[in-house]
Amino acid sequence: MNDKRSQQQAIHYAPLSSPWSARADTVQSATGVLLGFFLLAHLHFESSILLGKEAFYRVAQFLEGGMFTSSGHGMPILTQLFSAFILFVVVLHAAMALRRFPAQLGQWRALRRNMQVINHKDTNLWFWQMVTGFILFFLAPVHIFTMITNPEIGPHLSAERVYHANAWLLYALLLPAVVVHAMFGLYRVAVKWGFIANRNGLRKVAKVLIVYLLVIGLLSLSAYLIIGSELPLPITPYSPN
Ligand code: HEM
Repeated sequence: MNDKRSQQQAIHYAPLSSPWSARADTVQSATGVLLGFFLLAHLHFESSILLGKEAFYRVAQFLEGGMFTSSGHGMPILTQLFSAFILFVVVLHAAMALRRFPAQLGQWRALRRNMQVINHKDTNLWFWQMVTGFILFFLAPVHIFTMITNPEIGPHLSAERVYHANAWLLYALLLPAVVVHAMFGLYRVAVKWGFIANRNGLRKVAKVLIVYLLVIGLLSLSAYLIIGSELPLPITPYSPN
């Protein structure tokens, strides 16, 4: 290799080997794990609508700190504060992840060529994570901003948002992108930091979780649509008898 070429390579790879790069890697993994587990909890809480309006109402009131108020009603300000925190974590995660994004068409072509020649399962997962990450870059903030500006959550209020305000369209795109991104992301972190040696087994677990979360997510979305379509206008918040 001639001197000029090795100098160019040294400049090109310099930032990747700095201590900042290692720190950024740790922040990316830590924020990713936090978001991955948040999503697992979120989709379960939110799919309590499948157990009925009252179940979802109780879950929402509990998460909004209803046990700390004299009326028993939750405080939407908690949703706003928590949503702002999640937005901060998402921004941090995306900023760290952007370093790895192929920036030029040539890099994309090289990646695709590499994938065709090698056909390595983990490289394929990485590619899909990048594609879904790109989609989430645009969709996730829209949802989180909505929860900050309009934090009312409940069987009727959520159904109103999903059906009458057409949030179902956003959720139908967000759900598959975020589920694939989060589950393959958790898999990749476990492999990267050496938590698990059985890659094939863990990859299967990630795929099963993806199908499971898609099923409960789509069923919940259908439940909100059905409730929304049956509600008389103007919509009044649900309250248990
Ligand atoms: C802390 C902030 C968040 C809050 C308070 C929140 C709250 C909610 C609520 C109440 C719903 C039910 C529908 C509705 O009322 O509009 C919902 C649906 C959904 N959320 Fe979030 N969310 C938050 C953050 C996120 C994040 C960061 C993601 C992923 C990027 C996400 C992904 C989804 C998806 C995919 C659905 C639709 C689920 C389905 O199809 O059943 N949420 N969210």
